[in-house]
Amino acid sequence: MAADLSPIDKAKFVAAKRAVEFVEDGMKLGLGTGSTAAWMVRCLAERMREEGIRVTGVPTSSRTAELARQLGIPITTLDEAKWLDLTIDGADEFDGQLALIKGGGGALLQEKIVATASDQMIVITDPAKEVVQLGTFPLPIEVIPFGWQTTKALVEETLVSMDVLGRTATLRMNGDRAFITDEGNYIVDLHLQRIGNPRQLSLVINQIPGVVENGLFIDICDIVVIGHGNGRVEVRDINKGTSEEETIEFADTDNIFADLGD
Ligand code: 5RP
Repeated sequence: MAADLSPIDKAKFVAAKRAVEFVEDGMKLGLGTGSTAAWMVRCLAERMREEGIRVTGVPTSSRTAELARQLGIPITTLDEAKWLDLTIDGADEFDGQLALIKGGGGALLQEKIVATASDQMIVITDPAKEVVQLGTFPLPIEVIPFGWQTTKALVEETLVSMDVLGRTATLRMNGDRAFITDEGNYIVDLHLQRIGNPRQLSLVINQIPGVVENGLFIDICDIVVIGHGNGRVEVRDINKGTSEEETIEFADTDNIFADLGD
């Protein structure tokens, strides 16, 4: 079954499989959102089945909550868990300092709250998401529906004085309607092409009334696990300044593939 996976899915799978090796018995875990994070949830469920480890998950979206429930991973709320040992999540872009753009799946708000409430955040990714400078992937911002057009106009005006290349802002759609986040908000995607100063941009955008949060994750991610289609995995730890590599074999007996179908 593993042989049938596309190279990109193999890359996501091996990154996820390596990342869940960081999980220890009894941990409280933030469960990220997206296709790579879904592999992580499956790999986690497999470790729980095979090794009998027990964890409690705090999902970062209704989608992840549903997947965790299907796979028998106990979940709770952040308010109940209060503080987490580890969050494992995907990203849309990451740079050499492990600054991230997230929110491609529209879950950036819960993802940022959960990752910030964790001792450690691990990002799982494929190599295509590594960039020298953030900004090719549109930066999502979550905005309150009330007065969203005014908020969007204020954001565009603010961008004029920011170190960015593009300044177009678009409302994210779901068919012919606005995309609605789990918190009932809208997403406005900023097509910036290049973000010269992510830290400054993040602070300034969050000052605009109507903006709830932006998809820049700065000084939040500790480790990035980069999977490759041939099974090679790189683990870069920004705090230790280390980079290690190994190869993960695709075992056709992996029960995880029986869970596919979503
Ligand atoms: C969701 C996210 C995801 O982590 C990000 O979009 C990456 O998704 P994928 O693993 O499907 O490429 O931030 O809000």
